[in-house]
Amino acid sequence: MACRERLICAATDLVDQGKGIRFELDRHSKSRAAFVVRFEGEPHAFLNQCGHVPVELDWQEGAFFDDSRLYLICSTHGALYHPANGQCVGGRCAGRGLIPLPVVERGGQIYLLETD
Ligand code: FES
Repeated sequence: MACRERLICAATDLVDQGKGIRFELDRHSKSRAAFVVRFEGEPHAFLNQCGHVPVELDWQEGAFFDDSRLYLICSTHGALYHPANGQCVGGRCAGRGLIPLPVVERGGQIYLLETD
């Protein structure tokens, strides 16, 4: 299985616990919304799909963190997710977490790792 890296953004575009960057990826021949945030210095990416109802989390583009900046929040009904792993930590996600995507930071850039 081949693995390739796809550039998402510059590392400096991601501020710790700040605004996220949206991007698209192909999954099973479908375009899917995804996003990347920085938390405790590391980039973390997920499909942009709530565990409660499969809608995107951000009403305002890139606004994924809640007011505390400790959790990712779904703007529809307020489900909370841990930004390091996407696990549901409260609200209507009821144990259904976000789907994580592999990313790497290297040479001042953030890359998505894609497999064929
Ligand atoms: S759709 Fe996200 S919490 Fe309901």
